[in-house]
Amino acid sequence: MIPKLHDQKTKYDQAAISDYVLRHTKEHPASKKLREVTMQHKHSMMLVSADESRFFGQLVRILGAKKCIEIGTYTGYNTLSVALALPDDGKVIACDVVEAFPNIGKPFWKEAGVEHKIDLRIQPAEKTLDDLIANGETGTFDFVFIDADKPGYDAYYEKSLQLLRPGGVIALDN
Ligand SMILES: C[S@@+](CC[C@H](N)C(=O)[O-])C[C@H]1O[C@@H](n2cnc3c(N)ncnc32)[C@H](O)[C@@H]1O
Repeated sequence: MIPKLHDQKTKYDQAAISDYVLRHTKEHPASKKLREVTMQHKHSMMLVSADESRFFGQLVRILGAKKCIEIGTYTGYNTLSVALALPDDGKVIACDVVEAFPNIGKPFWKEAGVEHKIDLRIQPAEKTLDDLIANGETGTFDFVFIDADKPGYDAYYEKSLQLLRPGGVIALDN
């Protein structure tokens, strides 16, 4: 089961945190273009916020990550942030069920020169996680971002725990 994520009594100054992240991180020009294109899309409410995505890019760098998973890719804005933060031989497994969504992002992945780091899998994410486990990749991933259909979260979390290396990080978008 997913543990309780935060204490309702805890107060966060979200504006200050967002401002800090935006002041201390950069957005790649291709990411900026993809974000602007995605904001015109009819499902743009699914797009991660720029501060969240730039924070994840920084986290991937701090972790020294080489293997990541994005569960719920949409147009691939966060996938691009993660790919930009990975070393040249790093990989992000990008999961989605709607091929048309990441097709919007692909030209921007290419423009940023990171398309070779993105392994897009169009099928239910649970199947992709099962494939990775069956392929012997248990305990090898550094970072997993869960941001897809909410009923799937428990399964994504449990399978991600298997795939994660000791000290790896799972982030969940609510
Ligand atoms: C909130 S959006 C992801 C936003 C994305 N992380 C970003 O950077 O903007 C959720 C995505 O999950 C995808 N999705 C829904 N059900 C899924 C499933 N069973 N397996 C994989 N992806 C799924 C949707 O098609 C949608 O693109």
